[in-house]
Amino acid sequence: MALITLPALVASLLLLPSTVVNAQGNLATFPATPLASKHFAYPTGLPYQADSEQLIRGTQTGYNICNSTTENQNSLCQTSFLNALDDFCLWAPINPNSTIPDTEGEEVAWCTKPGRGTRLIPAGALKGVQFMRTPDYVQVVGFIDQRLINIQTGDFGGELDPHGADLASILLPRGNPLGGLVYSTAWSGNNNSFTQVIEWHNFMGGDAFCFKACDPSRPNAASFCQHIYDRIGCAYNAPNNAQNGTFEACAGENQDFPGVYTLNGAVLTYTQPPEALGVITTLPYEPRVPASSDCVPFESTELFAALATVTPSGSAAPASQTLSASGSSAAGTRGGSSGTGTGSAPNANQTADNGGNIVTSGLVSLIGVMFSALFLS
Ligand SMILES: *[C@@H]1O[C@H](CO)[C@@H](O)[C@H](O)[C@H]1NC(C)=O
Ligand SMILES: *[C@@H]1O[C@H](CO)[C@@H](O)[C@H](O)[C@H]1NC(C)=O
Ligand SMILES: *[C@@H]1O[C@H](CO)[C@@H](O)[C@H](O)[C@H]1NC(C)=O
Ligand SMILES: *[C@@H]1O[C@H](CO)[C@@H](O)[C@H](O)[C@H]1NC(C)=O
Ligand SMILES: *[C@@H]1O[C@H](CO)[C@@H](O)[C@H](O)[C@H]1NC(C)=O
Repeated sequence: MALITLPALVASLLLLPSTVVNAQGNLATFPATPLASKHFAYPTGLPYQADSEQLIRGTQTGYNICNSTTENQNSLCQTSFLNALDDFCLWAPINPNSTIPDTEGEEVAWCTKPGRGTRLIPAGALKGVQFMRTPDYVQVVGFIDQRLINIQTGDFGGELDPHGADLASILLPRGNPLGGLVYSTAWSGNNNSFTQVIEWHNFMGGDAFCFKACDPSRPNAASFCQHIYDRIGCAYNAPNNAQNGTFEACAGENQDFPGVYTLNGAVLTYTQPPEALGVITTLPYEPRVPASSDCVPFESTELFAALATVTPSGSAAPASQTLSASGSSAAGTRGGSSGTGTGSAPNANQTADNGGNIVTSGLVSLIGVMFSALFLS
């Protein structure tokens, strides 16, 4: 994100809509096709890179064709999965001690199962995971020692999604990470038959995560996997009752669409303020945690046996467990909170720690303003 300078953005915007080269003869801002509109069959239809363009946010860092050669702890595989309690990946940084805001464009897949050419989540990193299947999506929410997947201690992180920092669909966005693809077997009834997940969001940070994959055959996939509430974390984007220390697979009802809530019988939509207006200290609603049922508990050792020998890379320094993840608690609905805002109103100002996102969102809101001016004038 540091790659985007304000002058470059302004220059690019002034050249819209048709021009793709800016005044310096440099790179275009937006791809011809947004990531969320690119469809590839897995594994036969995968391109080497889903995002092959040279644009001002840079080039795709890794690749989408992943195999036994790329399967190691230095893998740059950017093809991810959300299949089941024992079979999912999370987006996390390439190098140790990185923050999500600093690296959101280049995260790679860290998975619970070998065989897909990715990095593996080191043994013991996962502290609790709830897998939830609802009519419209599958989701994993959980607790993780995030240092073991290269996320800096104390980073409250942020949101990864196929739309990215560019926000409005009119900007034809490239996703965070750029070119990141997600697949699932959750709807095929066959562990070898993969559906491309078009709409998804994955909040990482605060030693917690939530990752939702919306069924592309359902009409409201984009709303359930909404991507515009990047400052208010898992508690608002994926309200849940996941517990630290518990590994379980559940069925559940759908959440409300992120940002949509009912107050005194009226259905209202929250508007997330731009970061330029400062930290979010209060929200006008408490998210509704949907009912779940049929939760089946498991032991992590049986779920993640394949990870038993996976050790963190040397520089992910072991340290005492001193992190006070104030966005998370051992019990209750706040459990899965993470993201640039921790998700709970009293803690949402933790986002102030994440300088990278402040810059990005400032630019995003500026783009929004400029687009309004361009298209309404
Ligand atoms: C394995 O993946 C790498 C990285 O995408 C690619 O360059 C290579 O061609 C692949 N190998 C095979 C045999 O497909
Ligand atoms: C991680 O990075 C921060 C900020 O750059 C630095 O202060 C800290 O010492 C680093 N921690 C480790 C374990 O390298
Ligand atoms: C399919 O995947 C699920 C979840 O990972 C696993 O429990 C099940 O055993 C697999 N089925 C087969 C036939 O391999
Ligand atoms: C989850 O529990 C472990 C102990 O098993 C603890 O070390 C960790 O800090 C907890 N994580 C969060 C986010 O509360
Ligand atoms: C964050 O908000 C809490 C409660 O609103 C307040 O006590 C705390 O001082 C704030 N922290 C910062 C860094 O603004």
